[in-house]
Amino acid sequence: MPELNARDPGKTEATAGEVLGHVHSVTGAQASIGLLSANGLHRAGATVGKFIKIHTGKALLIGVITDVSLLVSPSIGEQRYCGVAHVDLTGEIGDRGGKIGFRRGVTDYPSIGDAASALTSNELRLVFDTSAAKTIKIGQLQQDSTITVAVDVDEMLSKHFAVLGTTGVGKSSAVAVILQQILQVRPDVRILLLDVHNEYGRCFGERAYLVNPGNLRLPFWLFNFEEIVDVFFGGRPGLDEEVEILAEVIPQAKVTYTQYRHTIERTAIKKQDPKSSGYTVDTPVPYRLADLLAQIDERMGKLENRTSRLVHHKLMTRIETVSNDPRYAFMFENANVGGDTMAESISQLFRLPADGRPMTIMQLAGLPAEVVDAVVSVLCRMAFDFGMWSDTASPMLIVCEEAHRYASVDRTVGFGPTRRAISRLAKEGRKYGVFLGLITQRPAELDPTILSQCSTLFAMRMSNDRDQALLRSAVSDSAANLFAFVPALGTREALAFGVGTPLPTRLTFAELPRQLLPRSEAFTGDPANQMGGQDLNFIAAVVERWRGATMRRRVAADEAARDVKPTVGAEAMPPPVPPVPSAPPLTPEPGRFSLLKKPLTDKPDPYAALRSPAAAPGNR
Ligand SMILES: Nc1ncnc2c1ncn2[C@@H]1O[C@H](COP(=O)(O)OP(=O)(O)OP(=O)(O)O)[C@@H](O)[C@H]1O
Ligand SMILES: [Mg+2]
Repeated sequence: MPELNARDPGKTEATAGEVLGHVHSVTGAQASIGLLSANGLHRAGATVGKFIKIHTGKALLIGVITDVSLLVSPSIGEQRYCGVAHVDLTGEIGDRGGKIGFRRGVTDYPSIGDAASALTSNELRLVFDTSAAKTIKIGQLQQDSTITVAVDVDEMLSKHFAVLGTTGVGKSSAVAVILQQILQVRPDVRILLLDVHNEYGRCFGERAYLVNPGNLRLPFWLFNFEEIVDVFFGGRPGLDEEVEILAEVIPQAKVTYTQYRHTIERTAIKKQDPKSSGYTVDTPVPYRLADLLAQIDERMGKLENRTSRLVHHKLMTRIETVSNDPRYAFMFENANVGGDTMAESISQLFRLPADGRPMTIMQLAGLPAEVVDAVVSVLCRMAFDFGMWSDTASPMLIVCEEAHRYASVDRTVGFGPTRRAISRLAKEGRKYGVFLGLITQRPAELDPTILSQCSTLFAMRMSNDRDQALLRSAVSDSAANLFAFVPALGTREALAFGVGTPLPTRLTFAELPRQLLPRSEAFTGDPANQMGGQDLNFIAAVVERWRGATMRRRVAADEAARDVKPTVGAEAMPPPVPPVPSAPPLTPEPGRFSLLKKPLTDKPDPYAALRSPAAAPGNR
């Protein structure tokens, strides 16, 4: 009794397994199949993207049709053919240690005349075997929704992956599906998600630790030279004279701080040459901003030339302005206290130990726009360096949304160190257990050398010609025909190919429940919130907060920091150097921080999580 086909009751499994044609030619891992007219090809569904099997003597070779056309060779012997299909062979079904299973790679090539037929549902199940330990189930096969598509998670992670598609096709949701599965199957992997639009906060529940400007601690001395210059100059290239001064005083400030730590009596400090200390501008050791400013001031005091004095003065003002900006508190809090908090920062960001939350969602949208590039650079660099120096303490996955912004093909766009950090992860990360997941709407704008390192690709709908051409260049010539689908894919649909998937597969990502969909916190679509938006008091409170957050005044945090007892590594600290009186005095305003902390209305404060990490339900 033939089994009924779920999608097309008129078509039976027996029909699907019938011979569609025979091998006419074989070139490497590609074969052309002469299609027999007798079988009603339209019924058997021999079209682009369909899977096909070829019966050789020893195994069943599995491939995907990449191109079909009307006839070529009129006949071979008695047989008459009506068309030809080109097939990319990708694996075989055979005996795997006493069990029938699918394996990637072809060991036994077909011969001319071998029979080809469509895969049955059971064979498809064997190909997308979800019972294997390290597979993640991300969705359903588009051509047979009863088949779950499983991806080999180890292969996908260790050789990086990318999700590509135009806006609104479901990239972020697909990433949420993939990451939720990784959390289940590989709880040992630490995930750092760079959430550019603050949209993933609700997707992973208790499993994710939310980091936002309110609870991020990324001391300025963790930034390397290029990164800190970028911060001081507000994302613009630094002025040469000022950058030169910084290059000299930063190592000196590091030496000074190290000496403080070893000396109780400040008078006993001998001047040490930074060169002999071994510190470079990039060594990630603590130093204090006050020492840096004091060094610049000291140099300025020795100068006679008015122009040079002015350059020093401008640099000091610049540093003070940035460090006093409340939006930069995550970097400059405790800037004059010292204390080596690098281990704490790494532990917080990379979830070591995980404490039941192996994932960090780094919400970048609340950071000052001009500093985001530098922060992404620091995070990617630290992930790589930590992986390298710890000999892969824990495998780590860095997921980067809007990757084209950070690693653009145009070298004049974006921030060089960020591109270099991402590129280094892409090229060498796997050696140290640091993996990359990139998401972009504009693949053509992403540095192709970085994209080419991503060995599993999920291509969602893309209509731009340049994006499609780039994708085609990433795969073999024959598989490129599969991309004819790409402009026609629906929301949630993707063409998955590469090392993670057994075959190039058109799939539909699993549907996420509404409450787990990624969406920007700025817009929830919730009618209750929209009512809040129409309330004048609400808007007034927003305006007040908006102004408060962008006003540049003396940060209370710096003052408060002086009273705070340093904890780690700062036991022997003398009182901090008095502030350098270079910038015009700024009015202290004790109430300013309360602006940021004040709830907008009597309603529950929707931003509580942003400001008070302890109070946030998602945080520890
Ligand atoms: N897996 C899914 N489950 C449920 N709904 C989905 C899924 N994928 C996409 N959608 C629907 O499509 C909408 C857009 O999806 P999503 O935000 O993931 O797109 P995107 O490609 O990330 O967009 P953008 O480029 O603007 O960031 C979602 O709000 C949701 O309604
Ligand atoms: Mg998105």
